[in-house]
Amino acid sequence: MNTYQKDLIQQLKESIEQMIDELLPKKNIRPEELHSAIRYGICNGGKRVRGILVLLCANIFSESKKALPAAVAIESIHAYSLIHDDLPAIDDSSLRRNKPSCHTEYDEATAILAGDSLLTEAFKILAEHYQDNPFLATRLIQILSSASSSVGMIGGQMEDIKNEGESVSEETLAFIHKNKTAQLIAAAVKMGFSFANKDMHDDQAISNFGYNLGMAFQYTDDLLDVQSDSATLGKPTGSDDASDKLSSIKVYGVDGAQKKARRFTEQAKENLKSIEVDTNNLMAYVDFLANRIS
Ligand code: IPE
Ligand code: IPE
Ligand code: MG
Ligand code: MG
Ligand code: MG
Repeated sequence: MNTYQKDLIQQLKESIEQMIDELLPKKNIRPEELHSAIRYGICNGGKRVRGILVLLCANIFSESKKALPAAVAIESIHAYSLIHDDLPAIDDSSLRRNKPSCHTEYDEATAILAGDSLLTEAFKILAEHYQDNPFLATRLIQILSSASSSVGMIGGQMEDIKNEGESVSEETLAFIHKNKTAQLIAAAVKMGFSFANKDMHDDQAISNFGYNLGMAFQYTDDLLDVQSDSATLGKPTGSDDASDKLSSIKVYGVDGAQKKARRFTEQAKENLKSIEVDTNNLMAYVDFLANRIS
């Protein structure tokens, strides 16, 4: 990424943080404990990858300001998924974004309700902020709800848990990666392109790009779990192995998982090249994500 692109990403990240603060209920609203837990789970942390993707795609059509509530909506869904992912019944993880995870800082019941609230908030934000354009509102809601549904992210989470301790299966791993992670990343891309000033809604290359980028993202997440340290990552390392997850490493080994990550990244870049708009900044961000250290 060149200096201009680094500044752009930082700027987009800050605009998302600011809009999150603006759109979510304040801490002093009753029940204060719940609103405090919601903000704990979503404010001040995270790379904001999904929100940034929405804005980078919308930015191609000079619409990144208009897309800000959509970026907040997808970050709300993502934050809810992480709060629930860390619960004792799921990954039982006590560290998230360099802080105690939500149920560790508060309690399990509060963390469950904070997650529920963020899920609900996402669709409230979309319904409220795009009501002047019902076609856009419906489209954004349709993309985000199907990606996070039981045939999307939640379905991936279900198979992720059920396959702990199970023997290696490439097909099941692909199902888990696609659903628990790639669907939401692809949704970010599709939501961003929904702001296009021309009809790009059925462009297969856009969907393929999101899918390949999302698959590469989860391969890298699995690799970082074995290669990084928890201070850099902001969450525990070695946790996939400890809970005998059906991770990329278990199925392909470190070298194999690296090859897969590189391949999905290359495919994502090929998809981008075939989309007939200016995707330079997006292309640089794909490389940035492939080389991330957290
Ligand atoms: C972590 O996502 C969960 C996965 C789907 C791999 P991120 O790595 O985007 O987490 P944050 O938002 O930066 O904390
Ligand atoms: C989480 O995958 C995916 C979702 C929350 C949907 P992981 O369990 O690998 O995420 P981390 O490593 O805890 O962030
Ligand atoms: Mg998990
Ligand atoms: Mg986890
Ligand atoms: Mg992980």
